Amino acid sequence: YRLALIGAPIEVGTSEPGAVMGPAALRTAGLGRALADLGHAVVDHGDVVPDGPAGARGLDAVAAWTRALSRVVEGVLDGGALPLTAGGDHSLSLGSIDGVMRHCARQGRPLFVLWLDAHADFNTPETSPSGNVHGMPLAALCGEAGFPQLFAEPAPPALAPTDVHLFGLRSIDAGERALVAARRVGVTDMRTIDEFGVIAPLRQILERVAARGAHLHVSFDIDFLDPSIAPGVGTTVPGGATFREAHLIMEMLHDSGLVRSLDIVELNPFLDERGRSARVLVELAASLFGRRILDRPTAPIAAV
Ligand code: ARG
Ligand code: MN
Ligand code: MN
Ligand code: MN
Repeated sequence: YRLALIGAPIEVGTSEPGAVMGPAALRTAGLGRALADLGHAVVDHGDVVPDGPAGARGLDAVAAWTRALSRVVEGVLDGGALPLTAGGDHSLSLGSIDGVMRHCARQGRPLFVLWLDAHADFNTPETSPSGNVHGMPLAALCGEAGFPQLFAEPAPPALAPTDVHLFGLRSIDAGERALVAARRVGVTDMRTIDEFGVIAPLRQILERVAARGAHLHVSFDIDFLDPSIAPGVGTTVPGGATFREAHLIMEMLHDSGLVRSLDIVELNPFLDERGRSARVLVELAASLFGRRILDRPTAPIAAV
């Protein structure tokens, strides 16, 4: 692959400071090097600078980031590379996915978003109990009412909620639960993963994406992982994905060959323990981009 690393040091979408250091910590943990060692051509585009003042918290600040990030991500895709946007809080996905949507719209290609997260991030300003924008990006991208103009005009048509899949969900607010159900957003919650594991549900998603020839965007919130392996995040929720589940998911995503863009979000190095969360994320990114245990595909189990 040609990989474009894009730093998005954004924390205006949260109330917990520290995510601004996320991109630096991922670089320090060797994200670029790990991917280059796998044989990919990696270009680090540095940190994106928001359009205009983005000092304050909240939606206006996020809008300034959204426009800048969207332009960079769309440009990278137009140039034939795969954008890896490193955050930064999850409001950055407003920009990265808006850029992906513009690229896909011009290509006439359908888009599918896989959201690996403990949370649904489907609040609107009205339903949000916290007011934190990182809990709202999917609702805004799916065209829910109540948001100010976040995207540059002319904005692409909203993302179809049925082309979004929440994977690893285990914390959801009352208002967003009602919305997720009403809009028929795809969900594999932790209850489902406990019953069936990660393989069957993920296979089903990937088969659907492949059948439609869709662009697969993966948005990886570090709180998808269990806090015991990744404590460096402001919104930990117990009962997250294990180290092995997470690697298996990354390996399956790699083997599918479908991933065309990626966000890695919510790393808060200020809350981390000696960089271990950043390191886990780098290892997982390496699995997603082709690192495997043996230098050949894992052998299929022979039929008996
Ligand atoms: N649902 C909660 C809220 O709206 C938490 C959102 C957490 N989101 C995240 N990207 N970590 O505030
Ligand atoms: Mn374009
Ligand atoms: Mn989350
Ligand atoms: Mn999130």
